[in-house]
Amino acid sequence: MSSGNAILAEGLLKDYVTYIRKGFLRKRKRIIHALRGVSFRVRWSEVFGLLGPNGAGKTTTVKIITTLLLPDGGRALVNGFDVVKNPIKVRESIGVVLNVERGFFWKLTGRENLKYFGMLRGLKGKDLEEAIDRVVKLVGLDELRSIDKLYEEYSLGMKARLALARALLHDPPILILDEPTLGLDPPAARGIRELLVRLAKREGKAVMITTHNMFEAEIICDYVAIISSGKISAQGTVHELKRLVADKIPVSIKFSGKIASDLNAVSKLLFESTLSPHIRIKEVRDGFEARILVDAGNEEKAIASSINALVSKGFNVRRAEVVEPSLEDVFIAVTKGDGENAVIND
Ligand SMILES: Nc1ncnc2c1ncn2[C@@H]1O[C@H](COP(=O)(O)OP(=O)(O)O)[C@@H](O)[C@H]1O
Ligand SMILES: [Mg+2]
Repeated sequence: MSSGNAILAEGLLKDYVTYIRKGFLRKRKRIIHALRGVSFRVRWSEVFGLLGPNGAGKTTTVKIITTLLLPDGGRALVNGFDVVKNPIKVRESIGVVLNVERGFFWKLTGRENLKYFGMLRGLKGKDLEEAIDRVVKLVGLDELRSIDKLYEEYSLGMKARLALARALLHDPPILILDEPTLGLDPPAARGIRELLVRLAKREGKAVMITTHNMFEAEIICDYVAIISSGKISAQGTVHELKRLVADKIPVSIKFSGKIASDLNAVSKLLFESTLSPHIRIKEVRDGFEARILVDAGNEEKAIASSINALVSKGFNVRRAEVVEPSLEDVFIAVTKGDGENAVIND
């Protein structure tokens, strides 16, 4: 493990070119600016989170950092090696989980799968056996002999652990995971999160994850960079990020009624009644929650006018209160509504 940053990205650019069919034989070129100058650093023994909504550019960033995709501009150093000039050294330095289920053999056991991938990494004999025992223990697959079950019998949570074990076989100092808990049930997701924190804190590895889940970023990441439309809109520790919105007070309004067709109309209604540009509405268990960031001192007025506006349109307001700021509020503040397509999980 070298000194300095585990990962350093500076001004990464990436465009995708796609063609839209316009009738028979005619197509039009469309350029998507997926990354528009992405910079961040990941330190050793740290869990770093790249947080952003769908389409923000998270996977594109991960693909560049892991040498699967060439950037159009900017540069990235991983363990001190340039991803374009020295991809082999970069690959030796990283363990990658891009898609939990990708590439495993369904008719082999977990252990047999690891053997296969260990051999691809150049491990053999006693070294291979030891590496497998080490990673299996590390990810907790030694319990209940799960490692000797057929892969097709694995739950998604076990598959996620095995993918992590595979990434750790060559004992890389850096782990890079694209949405590692996507689709997992809460206990399985919790298990993976605990594991990632342990790998950073006990093993001293640098762990970089991407996530669209603000709660996840808030609980496990030492450092968070918020990405939106191919740009980093804010970064810092969770504490530092929350300080960015210290002059704003989050107000939460829980309401129900017919909304399914038009979230934007309700958003507009609340904007007109509170004049806050920082508004997000999401579905919650039995209705909706509007989260509005208002200037300190205006919270009571905002609550009253929001309730009036919603009630006048036939909604039932069940609860309206001032709440503690969360990472979600930072996100609302820094993306200023252009994160419209964000998915927020609780
Ligand atoms: N292979 C591709 N071809 C064209 N557009 C792509 C391709 N991959 C991603 N994109 C587009 O680039 C943007 C960023 O995508 P991505 O990096 O996958 O975001 P995220 O992982 O944050 O959801 C999106 O607008 C997406 O539609
Ligand atoms: Mg993605």
